[in-house]
Amino acid sequence: MNAPLLSIRGVRKSFGPRQVLSLDVLELAVGESYVLTGENGSGKSTLLRVLAGLEKAAVDGCTFDGCPVDLANYPEWLRGAVIYVHQHPYLFRGSIRDNVAYGLKARGMSADKREVLIREAIAWAGVDALLDVPAQRLSGGEKQRVALARARALSPRLFLLDEPTANLDEAARQQTLRLIRDLCQANSTVVLACHDREIIDLPHMHRLHMSRGAIEASHPQAASA
Ligand SMILES: Nc1ncnc2c1ncn2[C@@H]1O[C@H](COP(=O)(O)OP(=O)(O)OP(=O)(O)O)[C@@H](O)[C@H]1O
Ligand SMILES: [Mg+2]
Repeated sequence: MNAPLLSIRGVRKSFGPRQVLSLDVLELAVGESYVLTGENGSGKSTLLRVLAGLEKAAVDGCTFDGCPVDLANYPEWLRGAVIYVHQHPYLFRGSIRDNVAYGLKARGMSADKREVLIREAIAWAGVDALLDVPAQRLSGGEKQRVALARARALSPRLFLLDEPTANLDEAARQQTLRLIRDLCQANSTVVLACHDREIIDLPHMHRLHMSRGAIEASHPQAASA
């Protein structure tokens, strides 16, 4: 197994009186891919959102690349290293180019460099023809692919993908699957929450099964979704 990228111990999260996360240990290794399975409501999205700093939780300890991090006071540098892609990605008003450019601009990248990365990401996602189309006009499948392109352009160390193929028709699902396969083969670490059998069965995918807020077992190919 590769070196750990993210290690987290003792994660608890409640909404009112209801505890929705109660996790002892989770370790994600550099360059590995993980699929989070489990029934509706088992805590998959909540866990991803905690890891992305979008939801606060009580955490006993967390390290990223060996550095201790406080997820409750999510450090700015970690926001650049961890990207969460929502099941229904939010694209803001403007073109696809604007959407992909946004995060790069925020990093202070020059327009020339941005353009190279934007074109590369858009071509990767197979949405080149849509570069100047207003984001609001896109289909669900196109939005998902643009969101993956936008995330990839930022070269994060950790991708957190929440049900990227849910609610897509078969053609769009296959296009998205191709991108996911590609991300999983690259050097980043990928965690996907999903019920999609084809993703669960991808080669080298580590399976993390959640039940009532806990990770039950990691059994690479054995159990069902
Ligand atoms: N903001 C919130 N307020 C109250 N309860 C919440 C909130 N967000 C999530 N929950 C509850 O936390 C539990 C875990 O939800 P979560 O969305 O993490 O499940 P999931 O495993 O992603 O489910 P699904 O497969 O349906 O996406 C659920 O019971 C849900 O109702
Ligand atoms: Mg969910």
